[in-house]
Amino acid sequence: MSKTTDNLKTAFAGESQAYRKYKAFSKKAEEEGFHNAARLFKAAAKAEKIHALSHLNNLGMIKSTAENLQAAVQGETFEFTEMYPGFIQQAKTDTNSSAEKAFHFANEAEKVHAKLYQDALNNLNDKTEKVYYLCPVCGFIEEGDQHDRCPICGTMKNLFKKID
Ligand SMILES: [Fe+2]
Ligand SMILES: [Fe+2]
Repeated sequence: MSKTTDNLKTAFAGESQAYRKYKAFSKKAEEEGFHNAARLFKAAAKAEKIHALSHLNNLGMIKSTAENLQAAVQGETFEFTEMYPGFIQQAKTDTNSSAEKAFHFANEAEKVHAKLYQDALNNLNDKTEKVYYLCPVCGFIEEGDQHDRCPICGTMKNLFKKID
């Protein structure tokens, strides 16, 4: 890997984080009644998003949908097999129950995401329309109507966000 590829990865990670952080800061500024600060954070978030996407493009990481689904399966699988289990253990050791819960929710949701991506890859040419529902608390996703409550965190289905 060239040094520039390395730098693009670092820049992509940093800009992606800045985007997410500024969105959260904008919401907080709005809640506190600082509308101009909220707008500035919003504008900057959009700018960082442009940078992040440009770095992602330069990394050549956006490929065919089949390849992207495969990459997504791998990314999610890494998270629930290697990353989060260790993070959960460490959070227990550190008695940080809030982080432990957040890692647990993400870990369980990633298992489902990996399966959904794999199914989508296996059925890439199936044009039957699908609707997904997202749990706004833990990030669980389900296809269609299967549960009355989130199987991971118990949130009522009527609070799920329909993705169509
Ligand atoms: Fe995921
Ligand atoms: Fe949930």
